[in-house]
Amino acid sequence: MNMRFEPSSGLAGELCAPADKSISHRAALLGAMASEPVRIERYLHAADTTSTLDAVRALGALVEVHGEDLVVRGPGLRDARETDRPIDVGNAGTLMRLLPGWLASQEGCSFTLDGDESIRRRPVDRIVEPLRHMGAELNARDGRFPPLRVRGRRLRAISYEIPVASAQVKSCILLAALAADGASTVGEPARSRDHTERMLLRAGVDIHRNGRHVTVAGADELALERVTVPGDLSSAAFMVAAGVLVPGSRLLIADVGVNWTRTGFLRILRRMRGIVLGELEDESGELTPEEPVSDLDVAHGALEGTVVEADEVPLAIDELPLVALLGCFAEGETVVHGAQELRVKESDRIASVVEGLRGLGADIEATDDGFLVRGSGGLRGGRIDAHGDHRLAMMGAVAGLASREGVEVIGMDAAAVSYPGFVEDLASLCS
Ligand code: S3P
Repeated sequence: MNMRFEPSSGLAGELCAPADKSISHRAALLGAMASEPVRIERYLHAADTTSTLDAVRALGALVEVHGEDLVVRGPGLRDARETDRPIDVGNAGTLMRLLPGWLASQEGCSFTLDGDESIRRRPVDRIVEPLRHMGAELNARDGRFPPLRVRGRRLRAISYEIPVASAQVKSCILLAALAADGASTVGEPARSRDHTERMLLRAGVDIHRNGRHVTVAGADELALERVTVPGDLSSAAFMVAAGVLVPGSRLLIADVGVNWTRTGFLRILRRMRGIVLGELEDESGELTPEEPVSDLDVAHGALEGTVVEADEVPLAIDELPLVALLGCFAEGETVVHGAQELRVKESDRIASVVEGLRGLGADIEATDDGFLVRGSGGLRGGRIDAHGDHRLAMMGAVAGLASREGVEVIGMDAAAVSYPGFVEDLASLCS
């Protein structure tokens, strides 16, 4: 589906961002791994997180849907049911990387995970290696890509340094470690989102952080009871960007998750002199069980270019396309370093962002590990291909509202993966 977004006058109003995708995936998985029913309040009902519900059902969980809320009654930590058909993860990279962590410990059971065309291009060797070290048997196509076959075994505890900062890989190892024979430690080169750690702490698991290392003990069972999912900052970020870029805008986005490991985009935006008020969580050494929320109050204003360094990248990974868009409107240069991970997202997001924004009139170049944008006072407009990538589609829509001539987005339906009501929400702020 193609859709045109015309230049807009100021955006105004109040909006509740959709529920957090990362936390919804984790809540459904940990819900299925828990011994007692888990109530999930405000689950995200979008394509990716529906794939997770279908997967846990196939593995023996009962899922009751009560409007936005769910009750998950799972088979528990060690009793997932073997499936006779491949588990279809659809477009969901988080499901493809996290679920094998649980399956790896289902002794004697075999599972196959597969997904759409985009998933089949996304590497899984990053989880195959540590899970093999722990004793599971795994086979990936060409050693690297889905379909992925997992045969569960009794697992050994592990000490493992992840070569690239990835919350998906870290979470996969932590889930496997719950059923291992001792305490496991995972190190990452830079801090990444810590929703799994916080939820495990709430589930009564013995888990600690020490700098960039997390140690988790084996567990007999998970005791979670209830999870309330906050609004998704990665979805709210599109509305924030629209509010900052379209002259005359002033909007309020309610109940957004502001866990420090997710708010890198807001810190980058504030450094660019963007006006966004809200009470963000501070960085803390200690692991805490809460997922803090805040309202965000956004207004249009002039922006300055900035430099994003490698250790900030995992804290803003899904918002980096928006940093490029903001850079087009900022005074001076905006540079992102250390973001080579963008090449293995739903699209090659360095190539698709650079090609897409250049087609709208941006002065932007790809580098090996990111991009460089020279602010040129805005964007002309034109057409942008989402390449089946939800974040590219939504970036194109925001670019249209802020452009001089409007933007046609090729493949707007991709937004349904994480934010099914995106177009309607954006329209409600424009009217
Ligand atoms: C996610 C982690 C990030 C992010 C993805 C969701 C998660 O991926 O890009 O959208 O829920 O753990 P990586 O861990 O591969 O960086």
